[in-house]
Amino acid sequence: MSWIWSYILYWFQLLALKIIKTGQIPKHVAIMMDGNRRYAKKRNMAKMDGNKKGYDKLIEVIDWCTNLGITEITAYTFSINNFNRSKNEVNGFMKLARYKFKLMLEEKNKWDEKGIRIRVIGNWALLSEEMQKLLAKMMITTKNNNKITLNLAFPYSSRDEITHAVKDILRGVKHGDILLEDINEDLISHSLYTYKSTNPDLLIRTSGEVRLSDFLLWQISNTCIYFSNVLWPEFNLWNFLSAIFYYQRCYSDLQKVAKIENLKPIVHNNRVSMYVNKLHHKREDIIENLYLSTVQP
Ligand code: FPP
Ligand code: MG
Repeated sequence: MSWIWSYILYWFQLLALKIIKTGQIPKHVAIMMDGNRRYAKKRNMAKMDGNKKGYDKLIEVIDWCTNLGITEITAYTFSINNFNRSKNEVNGFMKLARYKFKLMLEEKNKWDEKGIRIRVIGNWALLSEEMQKLLAKMMITTKNNNKITLNLAFPYSSRDEITHAVKDILRGVKHGDILLEDINEDLISHSLYTYKSTNPDLLIRTSGEVRLSDFLLWQISNTCIYFSNVLWPEFNLWNFLSAIFYYQRCYSDLQKVAKIENLKPIVHNNRVSMYVNKLHHKREDIIENLYLSTVQP
């Protein structure tokens, strides 16, 4: 493409972003980055190169989100089910993840400049100790960034998350911290891996698959869901803006539903608030201790 066309396209993109910003913008976007291996196959590349391109796309999408004022992204980075893939593929993915996470730490100033806070949600017990320490370091060293939060679901599945929440709550009942009658939807939400997040406003899944694949099942009951046929590494700004435009139409319907249902927030009693604080502190202490083990001799 000649530089004149690139220049025109650049201004056209800026204009499109400006126009879409006049409408409602989702605060939290969840993404299922599907189609990386098919992309690699289509281009005669190694499977893992599809994931590398997928990672680059995620970085590009973060920039688009920042430009639009989206403040939170949750990306399905590795599902617990993905452990069932061949040993070679799982090891290859973990190697790539380690490499990218180490690079993130080396280039921390870039993440700070962009104001990106990284959180990793999922079942860390399924990861090596080295990986857990790396994740803790990424989370702790970016925790004060506040422009946009990037939640990497890694390794994650929704039913695993809910099972863990139920176990934590039952432990609380067993130890007398809370009573059986304290259990409600809000307590369950506060016990999930996503307890620091609002529910996603928009969920995007690429590659033409029309399934939820055990992703954020509890959190997306009122989320607009957008399926795109495009393979994740090929997902471009126009595809992204189509998803945002879809959300803007969906949002006006959601407003009507919210008015009809007139939902009232659940208010915690003191006992539940204390228990929730204790649970969150316990989880944060685990991450803090992992981090300290990497910096202390
Ligand atoms: C699904 O595509 C995608 C994944 C299993 C991994 C997605 C993760 C990234 C793109 C980012 C990588 C990030 C880091 C930090 C390493 P697929 O493998 O199911 O492809 P297919 O649907 O074409 O088979
Ligand atoms: Mg897939």
